[in-house]
Amino acid sequence: MRYCGVGTAVTAAGADSSVPSGIVRAVGMTGVGSHVPSRVLTNHDLERIVATTNEWIVSRTGMRERRIAAEHEATSDLAVVAGRRALEAAGVKPADLDMIVVATITPDYPFPNTACLVQRQLGADRAFCMGLEAACSGFLYGMETARCYIAAGAAQTALVIGAEKMSAVLDWTDRSTCVLFGDGAGAAVLRPVPAGRRGIISSVFGSDGSLSDLLMIPAGGSRRPATAETVAAREHCLRMRGREVFRYAVTHMAEAGLAALHKAGLSISDIRWVIPHQANLRIIAAIGERLHCPASRFIVNVEKYGNTSAASIGLALDEAVRDGRIREGDLVLMVAFGAGFTWGATVMEWTGRA
Ligand code: COA
Repeated sequence: MRYCGVGTAVTAAGADSSVPSGIVRAVGMTGVGSHVPSRVLTNHDLERIVATTNEWIVSRTGMRERRIAAEHEATSDLAVVAGRRALEAAGVKPADLDMIVVATITPDYPFPNTACLVQRQLGADRAFCMGLEAACSGFLYGMETARCYIAAGAAQTALVIGAEKMSAVLDWTDRSTCVLFGDGAGAAVLRPVPAGRRGIISSVFGSDGSLSDLLMIPAGGSRRPATAETVAAREHCLRMRGREVFRYAVTHMAEAGLAALHKAGLSISDIRWVIPHQANLRIIAAIGERLHCPASRFIVNVEKYGNTSAASIGLALDEAVRDGRIREGDLVLMVAFGAGFTWGATVMEWTGRA
């Protein structure tokens, strides 16, 4: 039997094996990867599905197209491709992984958790695997979970993936939601960073379960298991009160961003790039105003992918690293908000393989 955990993972492999278990150490991202399905669904395509227009979608959301997974593709399939790319970028083999976290609200199955399915496809047989459900905040929640394990010495090398097949839970007759979401995956490898590097500098998180009804899938869980009636009423699909969600998304992402900066002892002028959850261009613009940060310092790809929920921040981060916008030493602020409600912000020095 192979076990990872306190006292074993730290000595398992890697750069920092001299650090004894229980010692808090700096953790950073050493590689990122992402993946989107090849099928593009444009706003014009949507005009043929629901009563909407390209103009409405662009002006209210900034979205022009999104990616839709094939019928046979599940969330774990998207996650595995993104995960492999992150491992390659980090120079880490699947067998070196101690821990896999997959954040998703569209798991392949209610159980087993999607991280176990990713482990199987990657052949990461030393890793322990967990699913994490924090909706669109999932990537940041997953990062923080892995960071805590590594900082505490309970793991050395973690793969964190945010992956979604949102198209599987959309009501394709509801124009107020089906135009907003897309499928994809973003991944990162987390490890201790060398002395002198900061990696993840600060994080803050919050939740408000009293507002859970504003954005949810009402049926299919233990409270309302699937029946012919729930299926006929499309209650296994995402429901959202968009205008209210909009307001809370702006407030919480902006406040979390400021709190994470404060915790890090930094100001917005120290930050090279802000990566917001890609829910809506107008939400991103409103966050920019509240953070006093110009649009030129935001990483935005919502026009290409729509809202990919837990995948969104990892996907945007990977694109910006690969096209050279984010460089070694850059300070990056990531802000997220999602169903629950859940929200959070993380300040990170991009280290890459350094
Ligand atoms: N095409 C055309 N018209 C549409 C439409 C569509 N796809 N979707 C909604 N409308 C209509 C509504 O029916 C409404 O019509 P009415 O005034 O006749 O009732 C009108 O547009 C305005 O709807 P409203 O919901 O007030 O629009 P909005 O400006 O708030 O934009 C969202 C709607 C969903 C884009 C916006 O509220 C939003 O982005 N919310 C947050 C979503 C989000 O981030 N969710 C995930 C959080 S992680």
